[in-house]
Amino acid sequence: MAWETIDRNVPAYDAEAPAVLTEALQEKIRAFFPRYDTKRAALLPALHIVQNTLGQVSWQAMREVADLLEIKPSDVFDVLSFYTHFWTNPQGQKVVTVCRSITCELLGGREVLEAVKKELGIDEHHTTPDGTFSIAVEECLAGCDHAPCLLINEKLHKCVKPEDVPKLLADADNTTLDMPRSTLYDGPGGVGSGGVGSGGVGSGGVGSGGGDSDGGDSDGGGSDDAGDAIGKTSDVAEMEESK
Ligand code: FES
Repeated sequence: MAWETIDRNVPAYDAEAPAVLTEALQEKIRAFFPRYDTKRAALLPALHIVQNTLGQVSWQAMREVADLLEIKPSDVFDVLSFYTHFWTNPQGQKVVTVCRSITCELLGGREVLEAVKKELGIDEHHTTPDGTFSIAVEECLAGCDHAPCLLINEKLHKCVKPEDVPKLLADADNTTLDMPRSTLYDGPGGVGSGGVGSGGVGSGGVGSGGGDSDGGDSDGGGSDDAGDAIGKTSDVAEMEESK
């Protein structure tokens, strides 16, 4: 393995650049504050909102989230770096997540991953130059009885063979879900749906997915509407009704 040298003298982002968290985006994050005793506790929802809206949590976005939550940027990075869900580089419109756990591994998951890499010409955690696909690798996708499995956004593809991969990736419907997705965590307009350019990357709304292209705003801007605040999710409505 080659060591990569990082020049710490080069700032991770341009401090003069315009803010990446719009007022509407900040409002969505603030909508979570009443749920918790501290602003810090809203960090994970904030990261989900940023990831879903911008397709990544850039260094600049981390800094702005830190300011909003009145914590240190390093605290944001500590949490972000624990989860593979959050990307500091842009995700593609479709994220191909290949399972690397034991059942899939035994039944050819590694070969499937290699086929995906070869077909897309990128490595794990990278995005194609046209921004269409990214590759991720995760532990068990809960489809062990149909191993090897992969996800394309929220759509689970079962018993995938390496030779199936080119056709699977070329299929325009490869993110179309077989069943309606839960709206439990969605705001009125489908908060988790407003991902990058296509209605989403990977998984979507807070605690759930919303990134599938058939569930999102086609203009990719749905998340920019503060009226869709995640804080107004149906579970909150139920709690309020039960008071
Ligand atoms: S081990 Fe791959 S889906 Fe469970």
